[in-house]
Amino acid sequence: MNMQLSSTPVIELHGLAKTYKSGEVEVKAVRELALRIERGEFVAIMGASGSGKSTLMNILGCLDQPTSGSYLLDGVDVAGLSRKERAVLRNRKLGFVFQSFNLLARTTALENVELPMFYSEPLIPLRIRHQRALQALEKVGLAGRVRHHPSQLSGGQQQRIAIARALVNQPEVVLADEPTGNLDSRTSIEIMGLFQELNDAGITLVMVTHELDIAAYCKRIIVMRDGSIVGDSRNDDRRQARREIERLDQEEQQAKLA
Ligand SMILES: Nc1ncnc2c1ncn2[C@@H]1O[C@H](COP(=O)(O)OP(=O)(O)O)[C@@H](O)[C@H]1O
Ligand SMILES: [Mg+2]
Repeated sequence: MNMQLSSTPVIELHGLAKTYKSGEVEVKAVRELALRIERGEFVAIMGASGSGKSTLMNILGCLDQPTSGSYLLDGVDVAGLSRKERAVLRNRKLGFVFQSFNLLARTTALENVELPMFYSEPLIPLRIRHQRALQALEKVGLAGRVRHHPSQLSGGQQQRIAIARALVNQPEVVLADEPTGNLDSRTSIEIMGLFQELNDAGITLVMVTHELDIAAYCKRIIVMRDGSIVGDSRNDDRRQARREIERLDQEEQQAKLA
C-alpha cells in the first residue's frame, strides 16, 4: 500500500478565493479559504443566503474556477488541468446530488443511474453499466423501482435515484447542495439516514444545508459568513437518523392508540 497516497486529503484548499466582477462592482463571494477534508468525513456547510456556499460547492465540483488560490482534489491540482482533463476528473472522483433531484423525466430510474457511466473513460460495456446501476439502486433501497419514471415516484424516492446516480462511478466524494430542501421533514430524515449509512460504508460526503436540524446528522459542521469560514467544529453527539425514525414511528403508533 502507498502510505503517502492514503493520507492525501480528498479535498484541500489553500488561499482559495473567488471574486465576481460585474462592471465596477466586485463581489468577493469566497475569501482566502483554507480547508482540508479527509476521507470518511461527513461535512455540513452552513451559512446564510449569499455567504458563498454555492460558489464554494461549484469550485469543489470543478464546475467553476477560483480567482486565486489552489484546490487539490484527491491530491490533483485542478487548476493545472485542461477542460477535458477536469471533466474526466469530475466524472471519476465526484458524485452530485441537488435540491431539485435533476433527473431526466422521460427516462427510467435505471437509465438515470446509468447516465454518468456514458461519460466514463475508458468506456464501460453495456452489461457492466446495467449491473452497476442495479447495484447502486439496491444500495439506496430502490431495487423494486428500476423501470419507474421519476413522475411515478415520490420526492424521497427521486432523491434516492439521484443518490444512486451520484454513487454509480464509485466517487471519492459526494457533493450535495441542499439535498433535503424539497423534502418534508420525515423524508429528509430518511435521506440523512441513507447518507449516514453510506458514510458508515466509507463514502465521504460534503453537504450544503441551511437547516441546523439537518446539519445535526453530520460529523463536522462548517459555517460560512461573507465568503469566509467563521466556524468549523466536530459534531460528536450527532443525531442518528435511524433512531429518529424509530421515535417518529412510535409517536405515530401512540397517536393512533390515543
Ligand atoms: N455569477 C455571479 N455573478 C455575480 N455575483 C455572484 C454570482 N454568483 C454569486 N454571486 C454573489 O456571490 C455571493 C455568494 O453567493 P452564493 O455562493 O450563491 O451564496 P449562497 O449559496 O451561500 O447563498 C453573493 O453575494 C452573490 O450575490
Ligand atoms: Mg446557494
